[in-house]
Amino acid sequence: MAEGRIAVIGTGYVGLTSGTCLAHLGHEVVCGDVDPDKVERMSRGEVPIFEDGLQELMTEGIESGRLTFVHGAEKAAEGAKYIFLCLPTPDGGDGRADLRIVHQVVAEIGPLLDPGAVLVTKSTVPVGTAKQITATLARDDVAVVSNPEFLQEGTAVKNFMNPDRVVVGSDDRAAAEAVAKLYDGLTTSSGKPVTMLITSAESSELIKYASNAFLAMKLSFINSIAGLAEVVGADVHEIAGGMGLDDRIGPKFLRAGPGWGGSCFPKDTKALAAIALDYSVPFPLLDATTIANEQAQERVTDRIREAAGGDLAGVPIALWGLTFKAGTDDLRDSPALEVALRLDTERAQLRGYDPTVKADLPPKNGYPAVPVAADPYAAAEGARVVVLLTEWPEFADIDIARVAQVAPGAVIVDARNLLDAQQVLDAGLRLVPLGRKG
Ligand code: UDX
Repeated sequence: MAEGRIAVIGTGYVGLTSGTCLAHLGHEVVCGDVDPDKVERMSRGEVPIFEDGLQELMTEGIESGRLTFVHGAEKAAEGAKYIFLCLPTPDGGDGRADLRIVHQVVAEIGPLLDPGAVLVTKSTVPVGTAKQITATLARDDVAVVSNPEFLQEGTAVKNFMNPDRVVVGSDDRAAAEAVAKLYDGLTTSSGKPVTMLITSAESSELIKYASNAFLAMKLSFINSIAGLAEVVGADVHEIAGGMGLDDRIGPKFLRAGPGWGGSCFPKDTKALAAIALDYSVPFPLLDATTIANEQAQERVTDRIREAAGGDLAGVPIALWGLTFKAGTDDLRDSPALEVALRLDTERAQLRGYDPTVKADLPPKNGYPAVPVAADPYAAAEGARVVVLLTEWPEFADIDIARVAQVAPGAVIVDARNLLDAQQVLDAGLRLVPLGRKG
């Protein structure tokens, strides 16, 4: 086990998952957060987020004494050897990541770090941040290392324990190697030893943005192909299947949908575009990736409007799925809410259902209020259009005959292509799939 304690500053989904998993690997971990209530709840073993497998590991960590929670960054950082910064880096309003919280915390904890301490940025930060932090710190006895996370919400624990790679970047090679060692013993999902990639801080910072923007681009690409497939009479699933068989392309991240969202892709794609602009490097693919995503949301809205007969005003519409993807309760930048916003602007009457959303959604972050029903059938009651927006597996097993009873004559717009066309037809309803014929 590595010598020295680990501090994790910030217990959002990245910090909490990383801290808990590092404790599971045998390290002594102290997590610090600004929110005293949250710290108190986590100390009692309460998991504040919806994340598969986290509860068990958190209980294990607390019971073993290896995982503790404290109020404030200073308390966590004092005496620690490795300090992981897992702080929010939101869009500053102009697409650029806002680093104020990161710099504020570095200024706070910098003077009290032990000589030999290693400050690790896990938050997604623009290229050059490690250098800036080194300057803010003004200490040559503390190393700064970039170690980006590649955790997907819903499978974050699995992604941490079985990563495709661990990336560590720093000018201080020994510090980078020491951070890589913290992950010793991890294997990939196919049981192979994990590649530990040691790079410069700049490369490591860019690997994170480049990976997320590339995946977003791949999704925008298949979503645009879906639009084309609809017009020419092709099937986006057949196309994705045919493309994915090429080893160089791969089958993953080719599921067409109502656009991509979440806390990372929209923010990171815009932030990388802003970085390219700041360095005067033309990178039109990034802007096109975001534009194509908006077009995917528009396209689903168009299909819904057509299903409603051309005018959405006053039309009762059920939204199945509100989160940005299945397996999470996260609504941030959800494509489902982007579509809801467009429908609301055209004065449709919305009612939603999502397995993780139990209360009506108030208007928030520019998204409209959405009343939430207790189950998909209650949401569909009296609807003229039912839209499947999030790929929750339970929608694939839906009782279509029951939907036909509560919403006779409704059209189902399946923006995730989860439903069986024949079953919908047999129930006497019409199905509008995405990127293929109905
Ligand atoms: C992403 C990255 O995958 C992860 O590596 C990074 O650390 C954080 O951002 P996450 O935000 O959890 O993770 O979502 P992800 O599973 O990547 O999905 C992003 C969006 O793409 C979702 O809206 C999802 O529904 C959509 N998606 C994904 C598709 O529409 N089709 C697909 O085939 C895959």
